[in-house]
Amino acid sequence: MENHSLAMTDIASSELFVFSDPRSTAAAAASWIADRIAAVTHLFRVALSGGTTPGLLYDELASRKYRNRIDWKRLELFWGDERFVPHNDPRSNYRMARETLLAHAPVLIDHVHPIPTDGDLDNCARRYEALLKRVYGAETLSLSRPLFDLVLLGLGPDGHTASLLPGTQALKERTHCVAPVGNTDPQRITLTYPAIRSSAAILFLVTGADKADALRRVRQGDTSLPAARIQSAGEIVWFVDHDAAASLAEAA
Ligand code: 6PG
Repeated sequence: MENHSLAMTDIASSELFVFSDPRSTAAAAASWIADRIAAVTHLFRVALSGGTTPGLLYDELASRKYRNRIDWKRLELFWGDERFVPHNDPRSNYRMARETLLAHAPVLIDHVHPIPTDGDLDNCARRYEALLKRVYGAETLSLSRPLFDLVLLGLGPDGHTASLLPGTQALKERTHCVAPVGNTDPQRITLTYPAIRSSAAILFLVTGADKADALRRVRQGDTSLPAARIQSAGEIVWFVDHDAAASLAEAA
């Protein structure tokens, strides 16, 4: 699936908001997401991120506060990346979202699209890409019609995002929307830059002092870090906590 680029937002033109701690960062992100869902009437496609930080966000979204505030039947969930482990493995991003969000919020089961991890790595990546093409309804992504309404992303201390890890072949993928990442333990499957770029909005959720250096370098445009090369057809917003922002001049 190739992109025919029209408009583009990059890290340099992204907005950043600083909050006191991880929980208030997640609470603000939940409210921002609820507002975006309410601002449209169509099926709202979200690519969820993995790791531990999003768990606070998913807990917040699953709380009573959002039971009636979010039109849950319009939510369609995908994953930005997955560890190549069974879905009941403690390392699974799907399992984390199932336990924190899906078990408590009325998302329609037909609107939940975990990345397959049953079988061969490349085959699962191809199956997930086929699903995205089916959902999108075309072989080629157009930036005037983004695949995702929202892509949630985290940031690793090494500057990775999704499973776009430093030194992996997935960073070079410009045709496929999904790439296998075979040289990690566990192996992974990830959306590629073209797929993430096909978004109406990207929300980076970054907390913890261990992210401060990577966040500073990404915000300064150090493209040796994978997250610094993220682009969107829409907007890019950062919700970070005080510890993660500690090295940012802009947060002073
Ligand atoms: C994963 C994630 C990964 C994550 C970052 C930050 O599968 O691990 O998709 O990209 O977002 O590593 O993780 P934390 O938020 O847990 O620090």
